[in-house]
Amino acid sequence: MSSSATTLVPEPYVWTEPPLGDAKSAPTSFYTDPEVFRAEIEHIHLKTWFFAGRVEEVASPGDYKALGTVGGPALLVRGEDGVLRAFANVCRHRASILLEGCGHASNIICPYHAWNYRLDGTLAGAPGMREVPKFEKPPHGLIPIRMEVWEGNIFLNYDEDAPDLTTHLGNMPDLVGSHRMGDMVRTWHIEIETKCNWKLLLENAMETYHTGIVHAATVGAQRSVSFPTSGEWHCIQVQSNRSIAVLGQEPPFPVIEGLSEQSRKGTYFTVVEPTTQFALAQDCMWWLAVRPVAVDRSVLSVGGCFPESYTRVPDFEARAEPYYKRWEAVALEDVGILEKQQVGLSSLLARPGPLSWRDDMVLAMNRWVMAHLPAHIVDRMGA
Ligand code: FES
Ligand SMILES: [Fe+2]
Repeated sequence: MSSSATTLVPEPYVWTEPPLGDAKSAPTSFYTDPEVFRAEIEHIHLKTWFFAGRVEEVASPGDYKALGTVGGPALLVRGEDGVLRAFANVCRHRASILLEGCGHASNIICPYHAWNYRLDGTLAGAPGMREVPKFEKPPHGLIPIRMEVWEGNIFLNYDEDAPDLTTHLGNMPDLVGSHRMGDMVRTWHIEIETKCNWKLLLENAMETYHTGIVHAATVGAQRSVSFPTSGEWHCIQVQSNRSIAVLGQEPPFPVIEGLSEQSRKGTYFTVVEPTTQFALAQDCMWWLAVRPVAVDRSVLSVGGCFPESYTRVPDFEARAEPYYKRWEAVALEDVGILEKQQVGLSSLLARPGPLSWRDDMVLAMNRWVMAHLPAHIVDRMGA
């Protein structure tokens, strides 16, 4: 743990104004107005870092992963040179997508007219194009997407001018460094299509006010503390002296070796603005990554990671199974209530309501988004 980690001191809740009692939830149009959604895409999602997967998903030369992103279909590919690259998953001829799902390839062949690309994105062949005057291959390689990797986590950004990922993460690495996410591997993953605004999924993931009710049959009531942070992220810690990533049993995995004193006290729930959550328990990490699709539609990716050394025990899958069940069950409980909330928000009669002190991160995240929107959009909401 670096010395600066000790400067992150938890508080009961994080906000200074307006005074508790005056703070309100955001206007309903924040979650329902297509104009607001369009502004978020333009001013937030296409300008900031978002999670795209883990390096071990594309571990060997030739491994690829196709994924949907807010900027369209994207492709992660490990080249023959071992370098991981990200491209638009779009052919340079007439824009068919190239690959789907995950797999292994020695080159990338378009399924439409068979233009083919090397794993480094350069165009290797274009049938019949030799007869086309002025055609040259070099300018027609796959279009790269800006990518950075932190602790095995792959982030993409459509804005070449955005601050780098390290700047975006601020002091997050200080707090979560002793989890050594870079030594973990993804062992489980699901995607859920949801009928709710992307922000509801993140807000819900950062408050424990609802857990005793929505998750009465699973994780139950929880208590959390909040951390004032620097950088574009937020953090709470659900306090528990054992991992809450597994339900109703002693965790079958040991505490991560070298875990900091603060990190042993519970599970960090973080949001790296705008769409990525890392939850870090004493024995594992799981993520929630949200892809906004429409003002009332989002795709939720949930993935689970363990230290690589844990996965080498012979009964690893049997030990990990309860974690997978818990992650899926809790995610579905959350999505269930958020789809009800989205319907309620569409009421003509819905109004901003008073926030609890336990909604501190909801307010912080609302403010982060509002601060990145043009004034006329914020005015339009009456926020
Ligand atoms: S669209 Fe890819 S080769 Fe024609
Ligand atoms: Fe929840």
